[in-house]
Amino acid sequence: MATMKEAPANASAAEKLMTWVDNRFPATKLYNEHLAEYYAPKNFNFWYFFGSLALLVLVIQIVTGIFLVMHYKPDANLAFASVEYIMRDVPWGWLVRYMHSTGASAFFVVVYLHMFRGMIYGSYRKPRELVWIFGCAIFLCLMAEAFMGYLLPWGQMSYWGAQVIVNLFTAIPFVGPDLALLIRGDYVVGDATLNRFFSFHVIAVPLVLLGLVVAHIIALHEVGSNNPDGVEIKAKKDSAGRPLDGIPFHPYYTVHDILGVSVFLLIFSAIIFFAPELGGYFLEYNNFIPADPLKTPLHIAPVWYFTPYYSVLRAITAEMMYVLMAFAVAGALLAVLKFKLSGLFKLVIVGGTAALIAMMFAIDAKFWGVVGMGGAVVILFFLPWLDHSPAKSLRYRPDWHKYVYALFVLNFLLLGYLGVQPVSPLGERLSQIGTVIYFGFFLLMPWWSRLGEPKPVPERVTFAAH
Ligand code: HEM
Repeated sequence: MATMKEAPANASAAEKLMTWVDNRFPATKLYNEHLAEYYAPKNFNFWYFFGSLALLVLVIQIVTGIFLVMHYKPDANLAFASVEYIMRDVPWGWLVRYMHSTGASAFFVVVYLHMFRGMIYGSYRKPRELVWIFGCAIFLCLMAEAFMGYLLPWGQMSYWGAQVIVNLFTAIPFVGPDLALLIRGDYVVGDATLNRFFSFHVIAVPLVLLGLVVAHIIALHEVGSNNPDGVEIKAKKDSAGRPLDGIPFHPYYTVHDILGVSVFLLIFSAIIFFAPELGGYFLEYNNFIPADPLKTPLHIAPVWYFTPYYSVLRAITAEMMYVLMAFAVAGALLAVLKFKLSGLFKLVIVGGTAALIAMMFAIDAKFWGVVGMGGAVVILFFLPWLDHSPAKSLRYRPDWHKYVYALFVLNFLLLGYLGVQPVSPLGERLSQIGTVIYFGFFLLMPWWSRLGEPKPVPERVTFAAH
């Protein structure tokens, strides 16, 4: 047993209590390690607000979720009416529900910005690969959480959205139909589906999500935060071992983050009070109609945060398969001709590509659409190993790299926009081009990220007091 510390004889009652606690639980140690003595770079800019905002939204979702569950009924015959009851009869129920529905969209806004910050400052690179990987796992959980939550109000879009997405699993060879049956718990989306989605939405996924968020922050605090310059502050320390360019997280960034929280809450409240549906983007109009298994809506679109991936799914048509095959062959040729590989390895590449092409012919394009949609998320996990730029932060990369990132963002927004629109010949073509650009950005990164002359990276962070 560790030796017990003694509080000084003249210590106050509060200090004595803290000593008593610290002898049994590392409260002060945790407070120091993660707040008072956690040295964060002094040059954080507004991009660094989004981590703490993601934490805030997580808390909002959990607290409002707990209150919603008190009145919501996970039963196909009662769910829709119970949400209406929350909106009309439960005191403040409308506020709690709108906070939760707006919170879902706000979560994705904040997390997309948070991820983009990581991308432009190279925060996923050594030694923060695990911070990034935990982040990507969080993103996957968040998508599952939002998808299952959307079924719960049992409106037309809840029902048909779930029907479309779960049916996608049937495209997986051999196991697909059984897998879809397992997810639904029935041959169509029904009461069993609602019950299991409810269970996953309120307890299973949030538990995993919370665990991942804790792991994300522990991993970050192990290696320390990156910053807009991409300079490692731990490389330059004072005689006491404190990073020269670091400042204690508390009180500096706790106070700094209040600014971000205030601006966020202003926008968040404005949406909740004045435009909770946000023109049908945050709450789709069709979802105010109770689910009707006999009436398919004319146009089924997922909520905005899924639409870039939905566009990728729709882009992969039978015609597009030929383009993908051409890319697979070109990639294999490039690898065999350009790189110095052993004969056996070349054989594996040629054989693998031939097998892939055969599978592409044999399996329906719908399946490859699902692969594309999943791949668009999974590829993020590999970012730390795709980026080979000598400079970590975009600030010190060749200027034209900024245009590459701008193209990526515009393309992502375009895919998002197209995913909301009904299918059209032009939309289909554009999403196909968008899909190629999306994957091209990542898959060609080992090549393009090395090109151009990087600017000299300073030894210390750049910072002008304001
Ligand atoms: C519930 C969702 C999330 C929460 C609550 C969360 C929380 C945080 C917090 C509090 C920080 C430290 C403050 C900051 O650097 O902004 C952070 C840093 C970071 N997060 Fe997240 N995060 C979430 C999702 C994600 C996702 C989805 C990714 C990427 C796929 C990600 C990648 C990162 C990276 C790379 C850092 C280090 C940034 C740096 O040091 O420059 N996070 N996160």
